[in-house]
Amino acid sequence: MPSDLPPTGSDHADAEKALLDWYIAMGADEAVCDAPIDRTLATPAAEKTAAAPPRLPQAPLASSPPTPYAGPAEAKARAQSCRTLEELREAIENFTGCALKNTANKTVFADGAAGSPVMFIGEAPGREEDRLGLPFVGPAGHLLDLMLAAIGRDRSSVYISNIVNWRPPGNRAPTVDEAMMMMPFIKRHIVLAKPQMLVLLGGTAAKYLLDTTTGIMRLRGKWAQIALSDQDEPRLPVLPTLHPAYLLRQPAHKSLAWQDFLSLKARLDAL
Ligand code: URA
Repeated sequence: MPSDLPPTGSDHADAEKALLDWYIAMGADEAVCDAPIDRTLATPAAEKTAAAPPRLPQAPLASSPPTPYAGPAEAKARAQSCRTLEELREAIENFTGCALKNTANKTVFADGAAGSPVMFIGEAPGREEDRLGLPFVGPAGHLLDLMLAAIGRDRSSVYISNIVNWRPPGNRAPTVDEAMMMMPFIKRHIVLAKPQMLVLLGGTAAKYLLDTTTGIMRLRGKWAQIALSDQDEPRLPVLPTLHPAYLLRQPAHKSLAWQDFLSLKARLDAL
């Protein structure tokens, strides 16, 4: 309701805090100065005279101090060294090699029951997931719950994670660099969770785990197999299907996802 009263100091503070939160969610990590700085001309001496832009505050994520990061090979070594899911969760929380972590509020690791016969893998956390630290708890997650219920399952009988563990600013798709950096972690995650089959929710999960450029519309509903290490033969059955967020935008395609879920149910029932 509009008020005739002038805004108070706390109204201004709330509005400024909301604006700042929005900038951070969109990926801003530096404040802009009053006057532009031409960094192609800037020398150390010139930079001294220009006011240094203050850094925006970043969300504290890791409980222990981040360890220095050396590159993709390091991501692989760290993931491989994890012997349990708890070690993997901690390794991801301490990993500083993926910039998505800098703008996220929470690390989103997994939900459901590890050891379940099926593991679902989505793309990346969204706003609600970033707020709660759990995958698929927003609108797409609610639809996923309904789809699971339709085949007689819920989160106590499946396991759920994502290709990347931090929300990309503004819910954009993860970049190739971001996704590739996190691949050793999700592959290790699958090994440690020991599912007997995977469901890939949407094009991003299919692209990176099946290492393909074929679109999800052509991949969906067709069982494939993947290898989880360079030495392994492809052996884990994988079913790509449509992402629930896509189904919310294109409800007419729910029947395709339903066919895929029936195929999943048949395979689960046959175990
Ligand atoms: N979309 C995803 O791909 N993953 C989530 O956790 C939420 C929405």
